[in-house]
Amino acid sequence: MAKRQKRASTAARVSTKSESRHHDSGIQAPKGKLGVMIPGMGAVATTFVAGVEAIRKGLAKPIGSLTQMGTIRLGKRTDGRSPKIKEFMSLARLDDLVFTGWDIFEDDMYSAAAKAGVLERDLLDKIKPLLAAVVPRKAVFDHNYIKRIDGPNVKKGKNKTDLAEQVREDIREFKKTSGASRLITIWCGSTETFLEPTAAHQSVKAFEKAMTQNDESIAPSMIYAYASLMEGVPFANGAPNLTVDIPVMHELARRNEAPICGKDFKTGQTLIKTILAPGFKARMLGLAGWFSTNILGNRDGEVLDDPGSFKTKEESKLSVLEHILQPELYPDLYTGFTHKVRINYYPPRGDNKEGWDNIDIFGWLGYPMQIKVDFLCRDSILAAPIVLDLVLFLDLAQRSSELRGIGIQEWLSFYFKSPMTAPGLYPEHDLFIQLMKLKNTLRHLKGEELITHLGLEYYD
Ligand SMILES: NC(=O)c1ccc[n+]([C@@H]2O[C@H](COP(=O)([O-])OP(=O)(O)OC[C@H]3O[C@@H](n4cnc5c(N)ncnc54)[C@H](O)[C@@H]3O)[C@@H](O)[C@H]2O)c1
Repeated sequence: MAKRQKRASTAARVSTKSESRHHDSGIQAPKGKLGVMIPGMGAVATTFVAGVEAIRKGLAKPIGSLTQMGTIRLGKRTDGRSPKIKEFMSLARLDDLVFTGWDIFEDDMYSAAAKAGVLERDLLDKIKPLLAAVVPRKAVFDHNYIKRIDGPNVKKGKNKTDLAEQVREDIREFKKTSGASRLITIWCGSTETFLEPTAAHQSVKAFEKAMTQNDESIAPSMIYAYASLMEGVPFANGAPNLTVDIPVMHELARRNEAPICGKDFKTGQTLIKTILAPGFKARMLGLAGWFSTNILGNRDGEVLDDPGSFKTKEESKLSVLEHILQPELYPDLYTGFTHKVRINYYPPRGDNKEGWDNIDIFGWLGYPMQIKVDFLCRDSILAAPIVLDLVLFLDLAQRSSELRGIGIQEWLSFYFKSPMTAPGLYPEHDLFIQLMKLKNTLRHLKGEELITHLGLEYYD
């Protein structure tokens, strides 16, 4: 026993020390309510809000949520310290969350959830009062950016500056009436058509001028993002749209100490890809091709049936393998592999997507092998806990003196298909590296030792 203690203390001396012990005191306590504002009250948003309420009422468990179920190891393996993340970091409690949203349709969250058809009516009826009370605010919407849908609940304004001002007014009004002490915006709206960064996106000055001129490179999602950041509210982007991944938003986020992250929730097929591909690379197995196809029948599938919206999604899904496999470092294994992604809108399937992957790999002496994956998944069931974790972690980021002024929160890459990074940095897609980065960030914020998994000290 004494020998073990001695080993553990030697281990503590040689292990990497986080340089930020003093930062522990730099995290404000989560006092009061946290207001969650959601542009896009569809399948994902309603499954998230309904889920939070069901969990609060003890009707279900927060499966899939790292903040609610995850633990974090602290110190040596011999220390036996593995608190729950939510307790270690003092995250906002589920009981403190209050909600609002915007949508082009007039359905409240109860009707929208019933139409989305993800959760059973029986469960929705048990939590109806809360859901029915979340009525959508009028949306900033333009059919040119999302071709397959149109709705009546839309703001009118003389230009994009005017629309942004109306969203800012919504934010201030919600803060006042809900009594929230802090706010977060998370985009759960449909995928907008493919846009590339333009001169209008390069600075706050250029963006504000472009808004007065109704510049078409400013999509509705950017107007919500601008309004939120101007109000000092952090913004997460669950869709693959550019939205906050442009210099103007980086600048605003830093200036107003409102953290940002995105893009495109990592669920379904891409989640599986970022679990399998690191495994192939770890074992130096080659890849000849990866063919992914999906059938999906919800409104998201309908929107993605439009080539413009699909291109936005495709770009987000395709980049993953190149970054994980690094063909430039392993030319014999990964040069020129074929990667195809298809999404087919097939109404009978609803939210219960089916994703097929055919993976052609090769091993010793180049001998080929195949892997087939058939994932019968539920998209919104996978996305809802991601929304919850992002809300709680973005709130933590804003309460942290070290994170609130840095803009992009790369440590939240774990949750995204196309993680945002500082300009010039390639994104980290490997799910396991992303998880290590996230947990080490939490340890660092609390002044705990970072875990390198070296472990030689146990054999002194
Ligand atoms: N479900 C998943 O697993 C998953 C994964 C990654 C990304 N996403 C993305 O999340 C988003 C939401 O997915 P979903 O399944 O809930 O889709 P959905 O179609 O059910 O909901 C989207 C909602 O956004 C609304 N909307 C569109 N434009 C808007 C605007 N400008 N302002 C306000 N509301 C607007 C629509 O009316 C709709 O109700 C999509 O962009 C989707 O691609 C979903």
